[in-house]
Amino acid sequence: MGSKTRPHWQYLIVFHLLQTCITVLSDASDIEKLITFKSSLNNPEALANWEPNVAPCNLDKEIWTGIICRKDGSVSGLRLENMGLNGSIDMDILSELPSIRTLSFANNSFSGPIPDVSKIGLLRGIYLSNNNFSGVIRDDIFAGMSGMRRVKLQNNKFTGRIPGSLTKLSILVDLQMQDNEFQGEIPDFEQKGLKVNFANNRLSGRIPSGLRNQDPSSFAGMKFQPFTESLD
Ligand SMILES: *[C@@H]1O[C@H](CO)[C@@H](O)[C@H](O)[C@H]1NC(C)=O
Ligand SMILES: *[C@@H]1O[C@H](CO)[C@@H](O)[C@H](O)[C@H]1NC(C)=O
Ligand SMILES: *[C@@H]1O[C@H](CO)[C@@H](O)[C@H](O)[C@H]1NC(C)=O
Repeated sequence: MGSKTRPHWQYLIVFHLLQTCITVLSDASDIEKLITFKSSLNNPEALANWEPNVAPCNLDKEIWTGIICRKDGSVSGLRLENMGLNGSIDMDILSELPSIRTLSFANNSFSGPIPDVSKIGLLRGIYLSNNNFSGVIRDDIFAGMSGMRRVKLQNNKFTGRIPGSLTKLSILVDLQMQDNEFQGEIPDFEQKGLKVNFANNRLSGRIPSGLRNQDPSSFAGMKFQPFTESLD
């Protein structure tokens, strides 16, 4: 009788082992990708506890420094702030982590062009403030990022125009572009509940009507006074 039930238990055990293997394997590949990302930084000493044999998250508790964890133990973002980091930001490898929604590299020493955020279409927040990023940001870089709520690029050396694709982010609530070298006119933002800051750039022209309720200090340093033209 006992020998008749054994095959059933064997199947269960094999099934369970397979499941465990699959779980461990998927975690392991995320770990590998994050370690690859780390190796693209010049000076990742602050990330010393990012180790291949330790999971980044224990459920929603972060184990690795600067990791944001979800309840199910997946990685929902990186918060690598105030770490003196520089080097390149490997967006290709980050785009292979399907659960990432937030990236912060604020208050470091990154330079060069903006990381290509369009590679992670589901991002809800990108924080690059207080670095040395520079160069023109392509107009469509935010195209289709319908979940984007917060874009903070302040205090870098960005040039060129404010990317028009920002005006299409329907749930954007916080846009910080101040203290850069952006030029040209501010495009037409019409999102309700959006807070912006464009101060201290090389912007010119009028303030778009959709931004008339913003704090005037958000436009400090604009070449022409707002609302000098007829309003209609
Ligand atoms: C990166 O930061 C380190 C110090 O953490 C510094 O020695 C190095 O010059 C920096 N490199 C660049 C390209 O800024
Ligand atoms: C960056 O540094 C400034 C000044 O040191 C500080 O006020 C700010 O909170 C920091 N921001 C982040 C995101 O850590
Ligand atoms: C940006 O670069 C300048 C030199 O070009 C340097 O003095 C400054 O400390 C850098 N800022 C950051 C946040 O790395």
